[in-house]
Amino acid sequence: ASTTATSVSISGDISSQLHGGYSHPLARSWQAERQLTKSMLIYPLFISDEDDEEILIPSLPDQYRRGINKIVPFLEPLVRKGLRSVILFGVPMKSGVKDALGTAADDPKGPVIATIRLLRQRFPQLFIIADVCLCEYTSHGHCGILRDDGGLNNQLSVDRVSDVAIAYAQAGAHCVAPSDMNDGRIRAIKLKLIEEGIADRVVLMSYAAKFSGCLYGPFRDAAGSVPSFGDRKCYQLPPGGRGLARRAIERDIGEGADIIMVKPANQYLDIISDAKDIGKNMPIAAYQVSGEFAMLHAGAKAGVFDLKAIAFESTEGILRAGATIVVSYFTPQFLDWLES
Ligand code: PBG
Ligand code: ZN
Repeated sequence: ASTTATSVSISGDISSQLHGGYSHPLARSWQAERQLTKSMLIYPLFISDEDDEEILIPSLPDQYRRGINKIVPFLEPLVRKGLRSVILFGVPMKSGVKDALGTAADDPKGPVIATIRLLRQRFPQLFIIADVCLCEYTSHGHCGILRDDGGLNNQLSVDRVSDVAIAYAQAGAHCVAPSDMNDGRIRAIKLKLIEEGIADRVVLMSYAAKFSGCLYGPFRDAAGSVPSFGDRKCYQLPPGGRGLARRAIERDIGEGADIIMVKPANQYLDIISDAKDIGKNMPIAAYQVSGEFAMLHAGAKAGVFDLKAIAFESTEGILRAGATIVVSYFTPQFLDWLES
């Protein structure tokens, strides 16, 4: 009897056979709807008003607060490797700069406006985003202007935040990104952009679904923006508030946002998916925040996983949920890792 097996008898359902479809590395990569590319990444920069400062932020691994004189040399190699976008956070370190109104936020000589001008000049291809908030500049550390009873005065806050946004846009920011969570700020900023005749050249990115919680600690160390009393629960969303986030996203789209951001990212993948669903016709950004980044570093340091592996895995989750833009402290490393 011959043993040449020219036919194999198959019993059972052949739809159970999936392995072949992703056996090759390229075929595996084709399973994703979108793959991480350099142009999806936004890198956060902390800009101090001490012009020559370059200080490691202890709770935010490998991240520095820099004065304007240190920014260009730092960015040069990154731009060469394909960095496309940065988001700027101003950090007043000098004493006596903060006040109840956050006056320093739009100081024409302040670090953010000066850095916007410098970067526009030195890196014409770099897309400059200015985070817009008052908490780095207010004496009380809250994201708006307060009433006498300590609550937010929403109208004054919106007026002020929208003025700051316009100042950053006038200075040359390609995008303004209000993170303050005051009600009605997107509409106020859009209207002022129109009034100023610059609405056609400025992207308005709303931190629409920004949740309160314990993941912003290292950022607040970096930016010196820990509230001096209370917390941010009356303006940032409660972690369980999925419906509320959907309403905030719908509202901000209605008010004229060009991009919707969800923040934090990995704990809020359902919200990213909702944002993608509600904002079908717009880009969705996710901010992998300081606490998430620090946590991944801590896990890698403890030997739980490899840092590069978890950086990719966490980011792939964010993209799978529906984001097409990722704000990430891993950006400099991704510029190297995506090379090979
Ligand atoms: C401030 C602001 C925060 C972040 C971005 N803008 C912190 C906060 O709300 O206290 C967090 C970013 C991060 O943790 O990496 N409006
Ligand atoms: Zn703030």
